[in-house]
Amino acid sequence: MSISRPIRKVVFPAAGLGTRILPATAVLPKELLPIVDKPIIQYGVEEAVASGLSQIVLVNSPGKRILEDHFGPHAALDALLARRGKSALLGGLRELTAGIELSTAFQDEPLGLGHAVLVSRGRVGDEPFAVVLSDDVIDADPPALAQMLAVFARVDGPVLLVERVPREAVGRYGVIAGDALGDGVHSVIDLVEKPAPEDAPSDLAIIGRYLLTPDIYPALAQTARGLGGEIQLTDGLRRLLAQRPIFAVELDGVRHDAGNKPGYLRAILHFAGKHPELRRELPGPTGGVVPEAR
Ligand code: UTP
Repeated sequence: MSISRPIRKVVFPAAGLGTRILPATAVLPKELLPIVDKPIIQYGVEEAVASGLSQIVLVNSPGKRILEDHFGPHAALDALLARRGKSALLGGLRELTAGIELSTAFQDEPLGLGHAVLVSRGRVGDEPFAVVLSDDVIDADPPALAQMLAVFARVDGPVLLVERVPREAVGRYGVIAGDALGDGVHSVIDLVEKPAPEDAPSDLAIIGRYLLTPDIYPALAQTARGLGGEIQLTDGLRRLLAQRPIFAVELDGVRHDAGNKPGYLRAILHFAGKHPELRRELPGPTGGVVPEAR
């Protein structure tokens, strides 16, 4: 049984450079690139809200205020659409915006994901919190964060989301070694950032969702710059693991890494395949209608 306080806040690190999807991200933040008709980050915020978490802490770089602007208010647009009887076109954005509490922490320099989480400390304080990397777009029922919260309520420690990936792909992820506890839950024994396939302790890759306890902050503050000169969240978690148990749960759902070009395309095809108007536009295996996505 967890003795932690309940999770209320979700940190969205969004201060990265998005180099893998340049030149689209030269001006536009990666998180605002659309997947069908919604920007990447909106999928993540909808997932948080659907999982009962409405206090959003955006970690942004000072030049990307346009990200906050997406979450409104959009008074002029709202009024115009209302006058034209077209409010439905906003597709639930107004309700989403009204239902969240958004605050921002600034990361002045992109010094890595661990550093981005560290700068959220003043906004989160001394309570457990979630982290969503919104470019990992997840389609799951129940939502991925809700799956993790159910585990968090049962264990005493941080919960990482993991997914089995092909061996040749492990070098793109943090990878865990774990003891299987059943139901896709693992007790983490070790974590390695971007291992070579032959050095990887397993094929269980950490993907973009974390439920963390506030003791990650001092652990990150003591973490030296690692791979690529960045402060890696995985290194901070490794340090924390020396002090307390950490858990991982396998995702039951579909994830696409929309932060690289092939993954971005797959995410678009996935959600287009579920969209009532767009489904029929896609070439399917039978040359016509694409089979309905889950
Ligand atoms: P990525 O690994 O996707 O890095 O970061 P990136 O910089 O955004 O993109 P590439 O690799 O250059 O293409 C994972 C998440 O962490 C955030 C990113 O915005 C993304 O949501 N991040 C990363 C920060 O907020 N700050 C950083 O210093 C690094």
